[in-house]
Amino acid sequence: MVIARRQLIPWRAAGTRAEMRRNADEVVRDTGWVFNNQTGSTLTLEEFVQTGDAEVDIYLDRLGWNSIAANATLLEIGSGIGRMTSAFSRKFAVTVATDVDAAFLERCRETVSRFGRVGSLRTVHIADGSSIAVEDSSIDAVFSYITLQHCKASDAMRLTTEAFRIVKPGGYVALNYRTWVPADWVLVPAGIVMRQLWRIPVLGPRLSQWRWSTRFGWQANRLDPKRILTLLETAGVVLDDIAILHHPGKPQRPVTFKGSTVIQRDLDVANKSHWWLVARCH
Ligand SMILES: C[S@@+](CC[C@H](N)C(=O)[O-])C[C@H]1O[C@@H](n2cnc3c(N)ncnc32)[C@H](O)[C@@H]1O
Repeated sequence: MVIARRQLIPWRAAGTRAEMRRNADEVVRDTGWVFNNQTGSTLTLEEFVQTGDAEVDIYLDRLGWNSIAANATLLEIGSGIGRMTSAFSRKFAVTVATDVDAAFLERCRETVSRFGRVGSLRTVHIADGSSIAVEDSSIDAVFSYITLQHCKASDAMRLTTEAFRIVKPGGYVALNYRTWVPADWVLVPAGIVMRQLWRIPVLGPRLSQWRWSTRFGWQANRLDPKRILTLLETAGVVLDDIAILHHPGKPQRPVTFKGSTVIQRDLDVANKSHWWLVARCH
């Protein structure tokens, strides 16, 4: 079978391995590195989830979302096997985990049943990689971390407009993107070559399971704030508040949204190659 979207290949490969493993600790040892880049033969799901717990505490604090969580529905785009979802499910009234890989969502449910509040969890499969099967204006907060960079640019952009479609008036959106860094002069061409190699029968599927190959090939896009803000303007999105968060001292180029300059702020925990769009809807 030819998989048309090469950027999805490593996720499907990891998802298939996640499906085949006997227990959740094995899943973490075998595929956990695709989420938090940690490897080791003694890793456990519990330790894996602790990394997500710590990050959820940090991001909810920096986003100022702690005060809304108890009565709110949060939707996470790209939950994977639930590294952060367990903590979200303990804090939010309802958590909707979404992912392009259905096997990850099943594992996510298992993770949340062990470490979170599974009664508050819903899962929604993003089967086509870009549409979120959730009603308009039904979600209080949409969050996505280290996911939109791994999609085809057009999927990341569609997922962005989907986030603003499903969020309620007065609701919040925090989306994490990757932008250009100097190492991209090497990483981008290497990624293109690797994604071509993944297409080769027999060799491709094998390659897509190896960590080094995946790390070269999976960073599928760089989207800068201007492109995303232009997209939102064109889509007619109306916002009360908007800001760009970036690695301390590494602001993005000045950008405007509907004629006003967008505020940029340091985010102490932001990776050098990342930026965040944070917004409150009208
Ligand atoms: C690096 S993992 C991050 C998972 C989670 N946010 C975390 O921090 O542990 C990226 C996730 O994005 C998912 N993903 C990749 N492309 C996607 C798409 N087009 N739509 C939805 N999810 C996608 C992958 O299956 C994977 O679970």
